[in-house]
Amino acid sequence: MSFYHHSLLGLRELSAEEILYILDEAKAFRQILERDIKKVPTLRWLTVVNLFYEPSTRTRISFELAEKRLSADVINFTQSGTSVAKGESLRDTVNNILAMKVDMVVVRHSSVSAPNYIERECNVQVINAGDGTNEHPTQGLLDLYTIREKFGQFSGLKVVILGDIRHSRVAHSNIWGLKKLGAKVILCAPRTLLPQYPEVFGVDVSTNIEEALSGANVVNVLRLQLERQKAGYIPSLREYRMFWGLTQERVKLLDPDHIIMHPGPMNRGVEIDPDVADANDSVILQQVTNGVAIRMAVLYILAGKINE
Ligand code: CP
Repeated sequence: MSFYHHSLLGLRELSAEEILYILDEAKAFRQILERDIKKVPTLRWLTVVNLFYEPSTRTRISFELAEKRLSADVINFTQSGTSVAKGESLRDTVNNILAMKVDMVVVRHSSVSAPNYIERECNVQVINAGDGTNEHPTQGLLDLYTIREKFGQFSGLKVVILGDIRHSRVAHSNIWGLKKLGAKVILCAPRTLLPQYPEVFGVDVSTNIEEALSGANVVNVLRLQLERQKAGYIPSLREYRMFWGLTQERVKLLDPDHIIMHPGPMNRGVEIDPDVADANDSVILQQVTNGVAIRMAVLYILAGKINE
């Protein structure tokens, strides 16, 4: 099986076979992370720039670690302290970096399709590290990896995506990936935080949290995007926790064989209670560990296509 795309822009455009190919490749890299020496010389010829136009803790560090574990050279770019402050465009910024003989771009940007724009305008391979509210494909892949690590497969699993789905690129990548791999997906949120046109995704939708969680194998809790709440999507944080938060009482509704996920960063005591986040059935930190292996796999697969 081959991987047909030159960039990773989203899971929507990948086939089930391509997604499984990445998950399979990631298994070998996950084993490397358990060794005393966690570094391999595989991509020592590669230079990658991590362009982060938005804040990030997990994704930025995870990509940098993945690149360093593969012995690639890494340049980290954040907006502050650069000529973006002087008005330099995205296209000019990337073309100038590429002129220094950089091979691949990892980008996080607040604009939907900024990674597609860079790929097209700058003729370079791009990995999307989150574009606006559109997609966050490596987060989707690490979530899929973590689910498969626990259950072995996807068909027959009931997966609830809970919370601020409307603004969540993580939700979108999860939905596309889970659907392609055969899981039953339920979007659960107050009506104001559901996507405007949920039917586009072809999944079930529920505004009844107890019903949605009942018998679920996976609940992926999304961060309530506090920076977007000025528009009045919820009455108050206290009421959000009361009606939509994942509490121990609500965890009891899940299938006995279940896992609790969250992409981070968490608002403890809002969308998820601290005792739920830290319980044995929570795989939140496993997701973070698996993210490094997923990003190593994506870098390795795409680097193999540089001269194609
Ligand atoms: N999950 C995630 O994207 O976290 P960061 O914003 O910290 O990268």
